[in-house]
Amino acid sequence: MSSSTYFEKFSTPVILVGVDFGFPNFDVTLDELGLLAQTAGLFPVAKLTCKRKAPDAALFVGSGKADEILALAHLHNATEILFDQALSPAQQRNLERHLQLPVNDRTLLILEIFAQRARSHEGKLQVDLARLQYLSTRLVRRWSHLERQRGGIGARGGPGETQIELDRRMIGDSIKRTKERLQKIKRQRITQRRQRERKETFNISLVGYTNSGKSTLFNALVKARTYAADQLFATLDTTTRQLYLGESGGIASLSDTVGFIRDIPHGLVDAFQATLQEAIDADLLLHVVDASNPAFPEQIAEVEKVLKEIGADHIHQILVFNKLDLVPTDRYPSSLRETYEWDGRQLMRLSVSARNGNGLPELREQLAIVAARGGGALKTPGDELEFSQY
Ligand code: GTP
Repeated sequence: MSSSTYFEKFSTPVILVGVDFGFPNFDVTLDELGLLAQTAGLFPVAKLTCKRKAPDAALFVGSGKADEILALAHLHNATEILFDQALSPAQQRNLERHLQLPVNDRTLLILEIFAQRARSHEGKLQVDLARLQYLSTRLVRRWSHLERQRGGIGARGGPGETQIELDRRMIGDSIKRTKERLQKIKRQRITQRRQRERKETFNISLVGYTNSGKSTLFNALVKARTYAADQLFATLDTTTRQLYLGESGGIASLSDTVGFIRDIPHGLVDAFQATLQEAIDADLLLHVVDASNPAFPEQIAEVEKVLKEIGADHIHQILVFNKLDLVPTDRYPSSLRETYEWDGRQLMRLSVSARNGNGLPELREQLAIVAARGGGALKTPGDELEFSQY
């Protein structure tokens, strides 16, 4: 089904489906997909998981499992099926035919949420580009039956080819135009950055998995108001404010960035490169972690993966374990400030609650120390902690 009609069906009852191929990041609870669905205005009514060695080329799941999904959909009056894994255009089309219901996947869901949320001109253009790129493969292949028909009868041209060529050209032109406009914005961004660099401001960027509490922490630190909501990707565009760190730390700039998520659609990583430029250019990354989420180690790993992809993995980092107020007492840290070993590196870990302010004075103090050193070695007397790349 086309993405434009996706949000017209507000609160559509959907069945969530997850297929376990034995990959370590398989989400058996499908909680994240459920939250993504709700963020998109859909209403999950039931979920189903199954195991397979490999995807079925035609239906992704076997036909028996597809019938089970259909029975579940009838039982719950669901009008749409949502897969946690990416479906190929052919699998999506075959499933829709088999189930006689619209079938979508996590990739489209994330793209749609991004499209709904983008606020700035640049953010909107970036999402447009990612959607056009996604659409270009789907549209072309959706016409493949006509392509086959053309091949079968041995004739050149025909309705299929005309439509495919038109679609390809239109989408190709739009992609080209969008890229050019983005290029222009990128140049303006570089100029602005040079101006900032001349001012020698210490730049701190908040990064982290979606919903970890970056915007709430940003607000708490700068006492500003950015949009914070219990939804995924509430923030899409980078917001920057000045942050006063006392006499020793001076004034730093603090940026809130887009949240990361596992299996981020490929086009979006590229598309958000410019937005994440703030993160790449930072002197220090505050990697915000939702400490109350049992899946936090996987979420840290996903964020690290994206940081690597965008070339920001060399930047000094403090792990901020947020939502301390929700952490069960048996998992409570013995100290607000500890070390955390990650990938052979000893990172500083500070525990905070952006909501009730616990641990924020310690975080500010730490930021002031780092800023005063201009990002240099963070070794205070009696301090055993050292950033890995310092
Ligand atoms: P994205 O925009 O999706 O990347 O989210 P984000 O990381 O900016 O998270 P945001 O600040 O929007 O917070 C997500 C949810 O967590 C909101 O409902 C916040 O109120 C809640 N939250 C944030 N920090 C805390 C905290 O310290 N304690 C509790 N209990 N909730 C928190």
